Amino acid sequence: MKPLIVANWKMNPLSLKEAKALFEAVRKGVKSVKNADIVVCPPSVYLPLFKGLVLGAQNCSWEEEGAYTGEISPLMLRDIKVDYVVIGHSERRKYFRETDQEVNKKIRKAIDVGLRVVLCVGETAEERTQGKKSQVLKSQLENGLDKVTKEGMKSVIVAYEPIWAIGTGNNCSTDETMSSVLSIRQMLTNLYNRDLADKTKVLYGGSVNGGNSGSYIKESGANGLLVGGASLKADEFIKIAKSAG
Ligand code: PGA
Repeated sequence: MKPLIVANWKMNPLSLKEAKALFEAVRKGVKSVKNADIVVCPPSVYLPLFKGLVLGAQNCSWEEEGAYTGEISPLMLRDIKVDYVVIGHSERRKYFRETDQEVNKKIRKAIDVGLRVVLCVGETAEERTQGKKSQVLKSQLENGLDKVTKEGMKSVIVAYEPIWAIGTGNNCSTDETMSSVLSIRQMLTNLYNRDLADKTKVLYGGSVNGGNSGSYIKESGANGLLVGGASLKADEFIKIAKSAG
């Protein structure tokens, strides 16, 4: 499977000038990368201004249109040629109290309108030490993918993002990542079937950098990476993209 490298800029950078400079540097730098797909997810305000790379949003509404102040319709994203949307990122779950049910509504709507979805799942440090990782991943997948059909799953990518590894520099070992990727595939097999589980991309995210990215691609069984902090430095992100493709 061709690796997928997704840049999640989160709420950065703060000026359009910096955002444009970062985007242009990345666009030029990843031109030579042929064996990996690259997606950049800037803050939504920048999305219509960028051309030349596949784009993703960091969130979207589960509604299509109407009186929903502050929301962005997935149809608006499609209209400006956005192809991907990240849904259920742990920061949205934590700071904006997004539930699995809301995540599910967003996923179904996004698929309906033709977006590809990156569904984020992952356990907290506490859940990990209490041995609850599998239980957490299972309920996030079961609830997040409720009523998502086999056909719909063709548009879904799962990102395993252990919360304790995000933005901490404490990246998950390739062995532990491999075991989580395997259990996610087993869960997808139980929810759908083996063939579908094998065809679904499972990414790793959490303190990925230019030094560790290659080992995830080669050794962890992950089909790509979701990159936060390191995607804000063009050179670092280009290095990550090159390590994958
Ligand atoms: P990080 O973030 O690479 O800064 O750890 C990853 C993410 O939140 O997607």
